[in-house]
Amino acid sequence: MHKLAHHQSVLGSAAGARAPWPAAAQRAQRRQWRDTQAWAARTELQSATTSAAQPSTSGRFDGEELPGPQGAFQPGQEAAARQQLFNRIAPVYDELNERLSLGQHRVWKRMAVRWSGAAPGHAALDVCCGSGDLAFELARVVGATGHVTGLDFAAEMLEDAESRRAAAPGVRPASRPPARMSWVQGDALALPFPDASFDAATMGYGLRNVADIPRALAELARVLKPGASAAVLDFNNSEDPVVDGLQAFFLERLVVPAASAYGLAAEYEYLRPSIKRFPTGREQEAMARAAGFASAVHYNVGFGLMGCLVATKAR
Ligand SMILES: C[S@@+](CC[C@H](N)C(=O)[O-])C[C@H]1O[C@@H](n2cnc3c(N)ncnc32)[C@H](O)[C@@H]1O
Repeated sequence: MHKLAHHQSVLGSAAGARAPWPAAAQRAQRRQWRDTQAWAARTELQSATTSAAQPSTSGRFDGEELPGPQGAFQPGQEAAARQQLFNRIAPVYDELNERLSLGQHRVWKRMAVRWSGAAPGHAALDVCCGSGDLAFELARVVGATGHVTGLDFAAEMLEDAESRRAAAPGVRPASRPPARMSWVQGDALALPFPDASFDAATMGYGLRNVADIPRALAELARVLKPGASAAVLDFNNSEDPVVDGLQAFFLERLVVPAASAYGLAAEYEYLRPSIKRFPTGREQEAMARAAGFASAVHYNVGFGLMGCLVATKAR
């Protein structure tokens, strides 16, 4: 068992500077508000239908039975169910990622780190770090004078991350990163850090999994310093039907069968409905601004199958 820093949950207030409101900014603000309301209305609908779910399924969405582990879509139960899910998949998570993305996930993660604005000497944070891919890439960038903190609520994932950090050169990650790194077991919805602690932040495939997306974004905004950015990489809930169809095919025909070979079909069947419940890029931009970021842009990544929200605090 590796020594991990365990922190009590603390809930901080969302920080955010307000810009003056010329007409264009007011229009943008109204559009953001509408997008956020549309997402919230969908979420309420989901919650209402989910509470009527059969006990044998994890939930319902728009009248549809949702596959996945028990409780993964049940309001009030989803955090614990998803924590268990990630502890279960931890042993095969890296291998499956590598195989199923044909190594592309490493390219997307490098892009996210670049978008986070991380630079030598920075204090960087990777929320929902899992086995640490993004944290290791941040460590490579911030270098010996920097520091990287990886936070996750799944102990098995953090143990995997620590094993990888401690591994001899030649074992993944290719060389031991020079930066100081620490792993924190904690909740993305109540980050155990003071306001304005970090120069850059990343979150990979985490935002879709938290029980309260606006709160996770507000927490990211709170712990970042003025002018700092967060890059949030995840599957894209694409509005383009071709991309959406391609993604459905990829998940249902390739990912789930591959995961079945490891006895983890239910865990990976959860992916598709979790993506369809995830806010679109435009909705994420609106939510990030509402959470206290001064600007937010969502980029399509990997032909639109993935997306990266880049949100920056006011200086
Ligand atoms: C799909 S994995 C992504 C891991 C890693 N970031 C990557 O890109 O490979 C999602 C991670 O988010 C973590 N997670 C989900 N909800 C969380 C929460 N509320 N607080 C902390 N970690 C959470 C899970 O334990 C899991 O390790």
